[in-house]
Amino acid sequence: MFIVEVQDKRYVKELKTLLELYNGNSLVKPIKTREKHSDVDGKSVKLFQLKTSITNVEELQKLLENYENCVSIAECADSENISSTSGVNFTITLLDYIRAYLAAQESYSSEFIEDVIANHCSPKYSLYPPLILFNHSPVKQMFISALWQEQIFKNSDETRTHFFEQMIQQVFIPTSSQNGVEFSHVAVNNPIQKADNIWRKPLSIIPLFGDFSTKDVNFDNPTHENFEKGFWCSTVQNGIYQEWAPIYTMFSRGNIKEKARILVTEKTKSTLCHFKDIANNDVLDMYCGIGYFTLSYLKRDCRYLFGFDLNPWSCEGLRRALTSKKNSKFVKQNSCYIYNESNEFAMQRLKDFEASSISTADNNCKLKIRHINMGLLPTSEPGWAVALDVAYRFHGSCLVTTLHVHENIHNDEVKDGSFVNEKLLPALLSFKKQNHYNNIESISVTHVEKIKTFAPDVWHVCIDTDIHFKCVSETCM
Ligand SMILES: C[S@@+](CC[C@H](N)C(=O)[O-])C[C@H]1O[C@@H](n2cnc3c(N)ncnc32)[C@H](O)[C@@H]1O
Repeated sequence: MFIVEVQDKRYVKELKTLLELYNGNSLVKPIKTREKHSDVDGKSVKLFQLKTSITNVEELQKLLENYENCVSIAECADSENISSTSGVNFTITLLDYIRAYLAAQESYSSEFIEDVIANHCSPKYSLYPPLILFNHSPVKQMFISALWQEQIFKNSDETRTHFFEQMIQQVFIPTSSQNGVEFSHVAVNNPIQKADNIWRKPLSIIPLFGDFSTKDVNFDNPTHENFEKGFWCSTVQNGIYQEWAPIYTMFSRGNIKEKARILVTEKTKSTLCHFKDIANNDVLDMYCGIGYFTLSYLKRDCRYLFGFDLNPWSCEGLRRALTSKKNSKFVKQNSCYIYNESNEFAMQRLKDFEASSISTADNNCKLKIRHINMGLLPTSEPGWAVALDVAYRFHGSCLVTTLHVHENIHNDEVKDGSFVNEKLLPALLSFKKQNHYNNIESISVTHVEKIKTFAPDVWHVCIDTDIHFKCVSETCM
């Protein structure tokens, strides 16, 4: 068992929620505290200790990836005794392997080896079976710098292959949390490039080992065969299985807290400002991708979910997750409709849906869109008007539709509310006026959730915006 230790009280609630939501509750109560004496000045500090039933340390590390600078993980000897040792260094095995590999080559001096370990290794990675995806360190450039290519891999495919084969064999032994799936691929992730990347494909992922099957693939218009032969990897978060082709689409762990907001219910004891009335209402996910949010809404038992995405690879990943046995407990038949096209078609698609359900006598199939998710960065502005149109036309019996507006905005704009008051609300009110949407009573922002930092002082936020409708008999039944 492991203990998550954190000094800053502000994170305790968030960590508690994350652990409670993970695998049906991985928090072992009670939360304790302990005093720790600083080695530097001898002063004592209070640490909060959250015990977890997660037994796989890598799984726990992954779950807490966004908190890596403020938490440490300590081993807990048994269910009663919490050891107060310092955080376990889980990267030691990989570094040991690199050190031993270099030492075995004879040609390297011990100074060279220690220099490699200290200055050219940044052993942070995510495990997405069967892929090991290393974080990109612009300074250390592990595996990709000239030093690695020329001096260690000697510009030889054979040497590189041998290095990674041995690394996988010795360090990345499959565990039960990966269902025993063996690792077969290694890559380095680079941050998303901004320009011309609306599909969010991680153009800068660098394959290092394994067959990523990129030959003869039509990215924009993939064939069934391309999908079949493509390289897919997976992960499980909050008990939800997700699958994606890492060359063609992205996966961001950082959204885990936002997914948690969707999963939290009135009954969960959580301080997160969560999404209300999902069960039995309808949802539009305007940028559904591989389904970060879509799958969470389905787990919360929404009635119908309509998802739109331009990227065919993301839609295929979502299709795989929807049909996977691993999600079969919560994905109900005929509850999710994914369209591989621009969300500009949402109005028409929803009209067609209502019309067809009437003709197939699916009784009472008037849509009632309660939530609209708009997860496009750096701004979801291109979708604001569509969202308001859909809310207006399809709120049905819901007297409020909440837009979840994702944006990257400067910290100052979060603090002084200028983005909301000078940009978002005026734009929505102006659409309302232009379209004579008199049935809209008010538009108000109820919450701004800071999801993660995008750049220094720039936050990825989600702005919960309620569109309130007047109760007119035709729509409000
Ligand atoms: C940040 S990603 C969304 C991630 C998503 N939540 C997921 O689970 O993968 C933004 C997505 O919006 C899609 N996109 C951009 N413009 C779009 C549009 N007009 N209509 C539909 N999808 C769009 C991109 O293809 C991309 O997959």
